[in-house]
Amino acid sequence: MELKRFKNYHELSDFAADDIANSIKNNPSLVLCMASGDTPKLTADLLVKKLKEEKIDYSKITFIGLDEWVGLPPTNSGSCHYFFQNKMIQPLQLKPSQYFLFDALAKDLSMECARMDRMITDRDIDIMVVGIGMNGHIGFNEPGTSFNNLSHVIELDEVTKSVGQKYFNEQVELGKGITLGFKHLLNAKKVFLMANGSKKAEVIKKTVEGQVTENFPASIIRQHENSVILIDEEAASLLSKPR
Ligand code: PGA
Repeated sequence: MELKRFKNYHELSDFAADDIANSIKNNPSLVLCMASGDTPKLTADLLVKKLKEEKIDYSKITFIGLDEWVGLPPTNSGSCHYFFQNKMIQPLQLKPSQYFLFDALAKDLSMECARMDRMITDRDIDIMVVGIGMNGHIGFNEPGTSFNNLSHVIELDEVTKSVGQKYFNEQVELGKGITLGFKHLLNAKKVFLMANGSKKAEVIKKTVEGQVTENFPASIIRQHENSVILIDEEAASLLSKPR
């Protein structure tokens, strides 16, 4: 695990976008898995801009969405689907054969998990971009989730249910999530965990300096050989060891 500190959110996002764009330049069939949420927003915008401005061929990339709120339609502006469609799929005009998102309305969610697992078995994830929740979750891998999990459906933690309201225009009932598992994260060739702002300082301290434990999911990042934590000054503010 490597830790990179940036002055602010923009610099951090620019670094991630630059790295992904260059990786696509070197590997036009790159498989990119991304989280939705506030943190990766600017990375997605800058990545789309760079790919277009630098005329990088992105026609063969594969895009994978990390997770979804169970029961929410893709038209809900707070859904992960909506984020992926608006930030990546539509701007890059990706073909349906190029992207894979959880169908959170699927009748059989375990089949839906199996479909995503099969798809990932067929093509390794080259770069995985994730954020970190206020309870240390990654995707919907909530505290207590096994580090060995593949895709699964999970009862959301109370913290996730209340913090998650920020994505919606009106109060929504959030119950379960469907998500890729940590086995996918450990198998990804490179992982970026990004965090910005002082509200993330505590969880970043635990991630970097606390115990590696399933009770604090983001600590798994330290078990990945090619992972990079990207943080701004504010998110780094509680770290005790100078890095
Ligand atoms: P955020 O969400 O990027 O909106 O802070 C992070 C997360 O819950 O994983």
